[in-house]
Amino acid sequence: MANNKTGFTSSFGVVMAAAGSAVGLGNIWRFPYICGQYGGAACLFVYLLFVFLIGMVLLMTEFVIGRRSGFAAEKAFPALYPKRPSWKIVGLFGMFTCFLILSIYLVISGWTVGYFWDSVTGKLASIEDGAFDEYFVQFSTSVWKPVVFLVIFLVLTLIVVLGGVQKGIEQVSKLLMPFLLVLVIVLCVRALTLPGASKGIEYLFNPDFSKLTWEGILAILGQALFSLSVGMGAMIVYGSYIPRDNNILKNAAWITVCDVLIAVLAGVAIFPAVFAAGQSPAGGPSLVYEVLPIVFNSMGTIGIVFAAVFFLLLSLAALTSAISLLETLTAWLHDRGMKRSVAAVLISAIELVLAVVVAYAYKREGFDGGILSGFTPGGRDLFDWVDKLTGSYLPPIGALFTVIFFGWVMKKEDIYDELSNHGVLKISWFKVFYHFLVRFVAPVALLISLVAGIFAK
Ligand code: PFF
Repeated sequence: MANNKTGFTSSFGVVMAAAGSAVGLGNIWRFPYICGQYGGAACLFVYLLFVFLIGMVLLMTEFVIGRRSGFAAEKAFPALYPKRPSWKIVGLFGMFTCFLILSIYLVISGWTVGYFWDSVTGKLASIEDGAFDEYFVQFSTSVWKPVVFLVIFLVLTLIVVLGGVQKGIEQVSKLLMPFLLVLVIVLCVRALTLPGASKGIEYLFNPDFSKLTWEGILAILGQALFSLSVGMGAMIVYGSYIPRDNNILKNAAWITVCDVLIAVLAGVAIFPAVFAAGQSPAGGPSLVYEVLPIVFNSMGTIGIVFAAVFFLLLSLAALTSAISLLETLTAWLHDRGMKRSVAAVLISAIELVLAVVVAYAYKREGFDGGILSGFTPGGRDLFDWVDKLTGSYLPPIGALFTVIFFGWVMKKEDIYDELSNHGVLKISWFKVFYHFLVRFVAPVALLISLVAGIFAK
């Protein structure tokens, strides 16, 4: 198959860029509160099962589809199975998911950049302990603040994507990812030395299986897929940039380990802080904005530094993920003949509008919401809808059809050829991977979780 695009230059570049996509708000902002809502260690246990048995399998699946076809999601499916071009619908569904994810991503990243700014300027430190919820509500529902910061974040994202695959995405990821790991370790060390830290750790590693409803299992599955950026075509695009001689299994394993490691470390950094501040871990989307500042403030002057470090960490993690979302959508339009730069700017403009709508729809429970929060079709505001759809429902649906295509439609010989780098690598694990995980475990688990999660509650 033709693949003459500019791609990543090395295995390290692939792993850093894809781990950059994977490690994001999902790990640091969402994972802790999902764990808080669905039983601490019980959630962690199910999450790990899903990540390694389904998430990593999908990561390899998408890499193979991308590298083999050389295309982004819409064209990749028909390129690999020309008899039925209608498989492109799965690719288009992925683009829709990416569109929605990027819109809410920009909103939360905007909040995060705003909080970074407020910690650097000392504003956060000047707030009384009991007033952080009110402060967060004021900030997130104000008319201009969320918009200004999300625009700054979007412009940064756009600049990197315009810089190109090698000089923009790969370079930035290689620089930021190791830095991120250092920041998260610094925060863990601080959190573990807080008074009462052991309670938080106990919570994270003590299972409460009674909280594991079917709805919870679907949310955890959605989270595992969201966190690895699979089920929406993003890794198909990065797959199309993987050099021909790279080992896909090794890359996927490293990326998965990085992703899990950062999520668990984020939990270790956040739960002790939550308990030290006497708060509930089930606080929902506003958890890190309302609880962590209390802890930072209790540390005195050095707390300002930790607050800045934390919100910087979260902003940078979000940046490398937003880059991959924008790149996925840009590559899709580029495949359809549009100039890369035009595609990137066009998508950014559309996302800006969507993001502002989502930002204005946010409402924190118990407080007044943004100016669009009164619009609640089906009993949810638009922020909630986008959060629920992108977190729980859409990635598992996309993943189900992708893995069915891979296991039951694509030629087995092609898959073997691609994973073994045309017979160069010995892949004795192929049978278990293909016959057991791809054709059986992944589709069945995805289907059961989806049906049960939607209907059984
Ligand atoms: N994996 C990202 C996270 O955990 O925050 C979210 C994400 C990024 C999903 C990029 C999809 C994507 F294409």
